[in-house]
Amino acid sequence: MKVFAVVNAAGGVGKTTTATTLAVGLSRLLQGRRVLLIDLDPQGDSASTMLGLRTQGFCVSKVIDGRSYVTNGQLDLKAAYQANILSADRSEEGIHRPNLYVLPSSDRIKDAKTSMIEEVANRVRELLAKGNHDYASFPTIAKLFTERLNPLRNIFDVIILDCPPSSDAFEDAIFAFADIIISPTMLDYKSLRATLLLMNRVTKAQQNDGVHCRVKYMVPTFVDLRTKLAQSMLASLEERYGAYLTISTPVPRTISVAEGPASGGLTILEYQEGSGSTSPAAEAAVQAYWDLINYVYDDLNIPETAYV
Ligand SMILES: Nc1ncnc2c1ncn2[C@@H]1O[C@H](COP(=O)(O)OP(=O)(O)OP(=O)(O)O)[C@@H](O)[C@H]1O
Ligand SMILES: [Mg+2]
Repeated sequence: MKVFAVVNAAGGVGKTTTATTLAVGLSRLLQGRRVLLIDLDPQGDSASTMLGLRTQGFCVSKVIDGRSYVTNGQLDLKAAYQANILSADRSEEGIHRPNLYVLPSSDRIKDAKTSMIEEVANRVRELLAKGNHDYASFPTIAKLFTERLNPLRNIFDVIILDCPPSSDAFEDAIFAFADIIISPTMLDYKSLRATLLLMNRVTKAQQNDGVHCRVKYMVPTFVDLRTKLAQSMLASLEERYGAYLTISTPVPRTISVAEGPASGGLTILEYQEGSGSTSPAAEAAVQAYWDLINYVYDDLNIPETAYV
């Protein structure tokens, strides 16, 4: 079981597109297993716009801020999961996603963050009042976040996090929960710099907080493969980062990727199958995403099924 976080502090670089496409692709490869996509972005695009689901008020904020599911002073996480995780299957419309589940987001996640900060402060005050000065054992946002989400590791075979375009205190929580980071990046100065800064922050978190996650994949997005600039940028990326991480197949800029969500919430994989388009850029985008899906599948080390 592994948790993959799709992260880049730069906005609009293809994080949600990558997270949802990866989730759909993996759920197809992992027949009979369960894939969970967790949206952590207050924009809440993953479930509704990208996958065409009605979220019915379901929200990850209700899981990380457990106040709604406390009975007799105890947080009932099972109830919180049951009330907020929805199936992504749309088989009745011909879109088959039988083993994909989503924990959606909404702008309530901002309030959940504030409530987590208050909860951590209250717990710290209580410990100090009891004379406890073992600071290393004190609660943190990252510890609280993993406490609320870690049990999902026992329920799902793979978890994918769609992260917001920011690097706030919540990011440490994402680093603490995730095993592997995937960073989609455009081949421009701003988003490449954001990926470089992300790698630095992860290294610091490994050194200071003992987190074990690492940036393993960079996914070049919105690439115009016909230009010499894109080719030379890709070559220098490989030269600079190739020893530390895998630079996945570049995803071309193609309107088909944006048309899928606009056509009732389909990933490029599903949209291409339905449209029958033979645009080379759209086919290359599908292939690029399958390459990433296969890398991630290999990371899961799923034992081969023995047929007897
Ligand atoms: N390869 C592509 N070609 C063309 N359009 C794309 C491509 N990838 C993503 N898009 C479109 O670009 C827009 C931004 O993509 P997306 O929402 O995935 O980015 P993001 O990094 O999640 O954004 P944010 O930082 O706001 O969360 C969307 O409308 C999406 O459909
Ligand atoms: Mg997004």
